Amino acid sequence: MTPLDYEYLRRLLRERSGLDLSADKQYLVESRLVPLARRNGLTGIGELVQKLKAGSDALTIDVIEAMTTNETFFFRDKIPFDHLRQAVIPELLQARSAKRALRIWCAASSTGQEPYSIAMLLKEFAADLLGWRIEIVATDLSLGVLEKARAGIFSQFEVQRGLPIQLLVKHFRQVGELWQLNADIRAMVQHRQLNLLQDFSHLGTFDVIFCRNVLIYFDQDTKLGVFNRLARSLEPDGTLALGAAESIVGITEAFKPWPERRGLYRPNLTRDARSGLKLVAAAG
Ligand SMILES: C[S@@+](CC[C@H](N)C(=O)[O-])C[C@H]1O[C@@H](n2cnc3c(N)ncnc32)[C@H](O)[C@@H]1O
Repeated sequence: MTPLDYEYLRRLLRERSGLDLSADKQYLVESRLVPLARRNGLTGIGELVQKLKAGSDALTIDVIEAMTTNETFFFRDKIPFDHLRQAVIPELLQARSAKRALRIWCAASSTGQEPYSIAMLLKEFAADLLGWRIEIVATDLSLGVLEKARAGIFSQFEVQRGLPIQLLVKHFRQVGELWQLNADIRAMVQHRQLNLLQDFSHLGTFDVIFCRNVLIYFDQDTKLGVFNRLARSLEPDGTLALGAAESIVGITEAFKPWPERRGLYRPNLTRDARSGLKLVAAAG
């Protein structure tokens, strides 16, 4: 791959998906895109770049999908789900007792393990949530992962990663070598395609946002823009959960950490004399 081809691909990926590749990731690009080029009858990266420059939307999508990391598993990192069970949901049960509605957004949901983990966890609160309107919105850039998520069919390997055996028995049905998630849990999650680089205000506001293990791939400016827009999509008493290697520190003041709840953040609000509660520093 020529340096110019690499620069073209880097810019394309940053602009379209937010993926920020450092200058030394040629090997990664080659290992993912040479097979893609061959599958499309092209000789290699040079020809692939020519086709992309000629304006092939389908190929651009394939390149983005080939370069994104979809790694996920049930109850990933455990701690955010413990916080949800022990602090976030109990608090919301009180705070939303009049409205009896909860909106949760999983903002880079990959093949569905994360939103379905949240749905299974909410089932533990079934008695308290009786008659409530519960929405779990799961979004991802990639149509491929959303299709798999919607199907709710997982391999033996996938259900062995993070899913307690009691939940496997309770919520899944074995179909040959695969496991089908039961319809009641699947029905709790709406899957939609969404690029976090684009406006998402049409989704409305949420009580909880899980945005985990995606911002880690973005550069600082892109992270700042997404954080500030996430802050506006969160209720003033809502909660943002980030991945274990992600933080707001040094990037935005639109959120502040939940004390004693690692990985959880709340909107950072000030009381403005004229307009009431206002987000701190959330432009962009
Ligand atoms: C590593 S997975 C994380 C999945 C899950 N949140 C977790 O922590 O297990 C990252 C996901 O982010 C998605 N993604 C990457 N760039 C995105 C973007 N610009 N907008 C929305 N989703 C994006 C990828 O398609 C991928 O499914």
